[in-house]
Amino acid sequence: MKQYREAVENALLTLPLLANAGEEPVIEAVERNPEDGLPPQPLRSAMRYSLLLPGKRLRPCLLLAAYHLLKEDWERVLPFACALEMIHTYSLVHDDLPAMDDDALRRGKPTNHRVYGEDMAILAGDGLLNMAYETMLDAPFAQEHPAEAVRAMREIACRAGVRGMVAGQTLDVKLEGKEPSMESVRYIHLHKTADLLTAPVVAGLMLAGATEEQLEAARAYGRGLGLAFQIVDDLLDLEGDVAALGKETGMDAQRGKMTWPAVCGVEQAREDARKAVEEAVAAMRLFGLQGEKLSKLAQESLVRKM
Ligand code: IPE
Ligand code: IPE
Ligand code: MG
Ligand code: MG
Ligand code: MG
Repeated sequence: MKQYREAVENALLTLPLLANAGEEPVIEAVERNPEDGLPPQPLRSAMRYSLLLPGKRLRPCLLLAAYHLLKEDWERVLPFACALEMIHTYSLVHDDLPAMDDDALRRGKPTNHRVYGEDMAILAGDGLLNMAYETMLDAPFAQEHPAEAVRAMREIACRAGVRGMVAGQTLDVKLEGKEPSMESVRYIHLHKTADLLTAPVVAGLMLAGATEEQLEAARAYGRGLGLAFQIVDDLLDLEGDVAALGKETGMDAQRGKMTWPAVCGVEQAREDARKAVEEAVAAMRLFGLQGEKLSKLAQESLVRKM
């Protein structure tokens, strides 16, 4: 996974659209006549700020690892990997807004709206989402393999969209303070989180020209990993360390969020996360030895501290 993470980090750093935004966050500057083709300041800095802060880069790494299950030339699909990180980062910037989770800390730094204001945080999120699709459509791989690229982009759009992550976020905020139920929390976790972890695995395999049987295994893997990942996120909000996490803890209870441990208790939540990871690992058996990297990643998600 390290080789993928380094490649992603480097590709994000050198994105042409976010070039020359400077190391220091530009907050007050308003650019009326931006250099040709670049987003105006302070939008460009706001987008760059959240995207380049240290995240785990899990979604882009999943796309590269999934493609690499079938094909060697994984560097060719880096633009799709970066696009997933843009969509994920947009979801975090909007998730932290006062109208949603109202959080002050993200990736170890003040949240986007705390630095740039709510107006820029909303627009930086909008910008990152659209930039993701520009990035995929402009990828040389998409020109050379249009059928595979369109199929992968559709998968990403659907899982990030109104029947996917956005649907999960809707219930997450609308059910705050309501009586916890397993049915609701399962829906929320499958959509707000598992869909955005399934998309890179399925899309990566689609780009590599996978069979339907292989795609079905990818869906099962993403579902298991995604459920476990969000259950562990809920547990970390209860018992994690702020410095390691890079975000505030105790916020879910404060907001009356419908979390997995709120529904069934901490012990059962741990057990359910373990079971979900077992399902993810079982799905990877189809890929034999090649699948071990992704199995290991799912197992590690149970003991993560950040
Ligand atoms: C945070 O995602 C949001 C959830 C779905 C729990 P990550 O834990 O992957 O956040 P980063 O990308 O490492 O910051
Ligand atoms: C967020 O879930 C999932 C997204 C789609 C962004 P959380 O609200 O639990 O994520 P954190 O804890 O703020 O990272
Ligand atoms: Mg949230
Ligand atoms: Mg949140
Ligand atoms: Mg959380």
